[in-house]
Amino acid sequence: MKGTRFLIILFSILPCNTSVSRAGVFSFKRDSHKQDTTTFKSPSAEDNERCLKCHGQGKYEYPNESLKKHVKALMYSETIIKRENFYRSNHRSLSCTDCHSEEYTKFPHSGELRMEQKLNCIDCHGGDEKYAQFHFEAIDSEYVKSTHYKLQEDGFSCWKCHDPHTYKINIRNSENIKETILYDNAICLNCHSNFDNFQLLTSRKEISILKTHEWLPNQAVHFQNVRCIECHTKINDNILVSHLIKPKDQAVRRCNECHSQNSILMATLYKFKSKEQRHAGFFNGIITNESYVIGANRNEYLNLLSLIMSAGLIAVIGIHIYFRIRNSKKSI
Ligand code: HEC
Ligand code: HEC
Ligand code: HEC
Ligand code: HEC
Ligand code: HEC
Ligand code: HEC
Ligand code: HEC
Repeated sequence: MKGTRFLIILFSILPCNTSVSRAGVFSFKRDSHKQDTTTFKSPSAEDNERCLKCHGQGKYEYPNESLKKHVKALMYSETIIKRENFYRSNHRSLSCTDCHSEEYTKFPHSGELRMEQKLNCIDCHGGDEKYAQFHFEAIDSEYVKSTHYKLQEDGFSCWKCHDPHTYKINIRNSENIKETILYDNAICLNCHSNFDNFQLLTSRKEISILKTHEWLPNQAVHFQNVRCIECHTKINDNILVSHLIKPKDQAVRRCNECHSQNSILMATLYKFKSKEQRHAGFFNGIITNESYVIGANRNEYLNLLSLIMSAGLIAVIGIHIYFRIRNSKKSI
């Protein structure tokens, strides 16, 4: 293994510019803007402090008029919103009250607010040219076909995977694939390894992810190098992140779907990069920047070298046989 890896590194240094046969048909552009968090000042920061003075940390205070007392109490952990996460998220320039009722400025909050209809992604992003690259409508229609949609009645929605206060686009801007894999998998594991969240939506018994994936060797290595959605979604060439999660019996199980020259990873995890970067002589060269996927990372030069070596070997054997025959004839 070590040896092959070394060879591969060696060959990838060869200064050659060969066109790789895989057609890159993807036309996703990378976002040019980098989200700089240290200098970001939200136009709604002041507004938000009306809420964050209570929701921003573990303790809140309020004047209790009837007791004529100033009360300090602990905030429930589920209702704490960390400023640093919120101001790093996609929706960092929004005001809390863009999504929540102004009525929430009053405390105690009115019980009726709980029944408030929540805005959906589509309510703000639908039909907006500015967000065309994200294909909200296409994603929405995939979601409707996905296995989770049946849980919609019980409260499943886009927000369950896209936390309203922390969600941040990742793969689109990703410089670090490993971190993106971690981020995306954490989205699924938030329910699939947290039974409290899981049971809010179903009466099914707890599913152990480790057990149901026992057939996959080196599980830890795989879960660090591929996302859940690689195996669980239907590939869609038109959107960057496929949202159609298939029933479990249609999940990818065959090793060579990834460990082969036609690795599905080029159409999923490495969709962007497959277009953008090419590596000297490598099929699926971009994957080697991040991972060494047995079978997927074959090298033309290595292939050629092994051909030359085999030809050489056959020639040596041939010459050897020729002289053996000649010499044996002579000695008679
Ligand atoms: C004085 C402190 C305080 C302020 C100010 C405050 N909240 Fe709250 N909020 C709470 C507490 C405590 C809870 C949990 C208990 C409850 O639901 O009343 C809560 C609950 C909530 C909930 C969950 C309610 C539910 O029914 O699940 C939302 C949403 C919320 N607050 C939004 C806001 C928004 C938006 C603002 C600013 C406009 C805000 N809050 C301002 C203390 C506060
Ligand atoms: C982009 C829309 C959006 C913005 C902006 C937003 N929220 Fe929310 N918030 C939601 C949605 C949607 C939910 C319900 C989540 C769910 O049902 O899973 C929610 C839930 C909550 C809750 C209940 C606890 C929870 O996580 O379910 C609190 C508290 C809360 N928001 C406070 C705030 C505060 C404070 C701000 C401003 C710093 C804010 N929200 C900004 C959309 C938003
Ligand atoms: C209340 C309206 C509203 C809702 C609801 C809403 N968004 Fe947004 N979203 C916005 C606005 C406004 C921006 C632009 C923020 C900015 O430019 O700072 C934005 C930005 C984004 C971006 C980043 C775009 C970029 O170019 O960086 C993504 C991705 C996104 N939203 C996804 C979602 C998803 C997914 C949902 C539902 C889970 C959702 N939004 C719900 C208003 C909304
Ligand atoms: C089962 C979980 C799940 C659900 C439900 C879900 N998403 Fe996503 N979504 C993801 C994951 C994972 C990503 C990849 C995040 C990343 O790396 O940027 C993503 C990414 C996105 C992106 C960014 C794609 C891009 O091109 O950068 C948008 C937009 C989006 N989702 C919209 C939606 C909308 C709208 C809904 C509801 C109709 C929805 N999502 C429901 C898991 C989910
Ligand atoms: C290499 C492909 C692959 C990866 C990666 C993968 N899965 Fe699976 N998953 C499968 C297959 C195949 C099955 C069907 C197993 C069976 O039915 O025995 C499955 C089954 C499941 C089930 C259904 C289990 C049940 O018994 O109902 C869930 C839930 C699930 N996976 C979640 C996840 C999550 C969450 C992740 C990411 C942490 C993940 N999977 C990563 C291939 C994969
Ligand atoms: C908010 C919680 C939640 C999140 C987040 C979530 N799931 Fe699920 N998922 C569930 C529940 C609950 C079920 C069980 C549905 C049922 O009752 O059959 C389920 C079922 C599944 C199944 C099994 C479907 C079948 O055929 O039985 C798969 C596969 C799956 N999820 C994959 C994923 C993947 C991949 C992600 C991340 C992109 C994800 N889930 C995110 C809650 C979640
Ligand atoms: C969804 C794609 C995918 C599928 C399906 C898949 N693998 Fe992998 N596998 C990978 C990736 C990516 C790596 C690279 C890990 C790395 O960088 O070291 C890997 C690595 C490995 C390794 C090396 C582990 C190590 O310790 O370095 C073995 C062995 C392996 N896979 C065997 C299998 C077998 C056997 C199957 C089928 C049962 C399978 N894989 C299915 C993507 C996949």
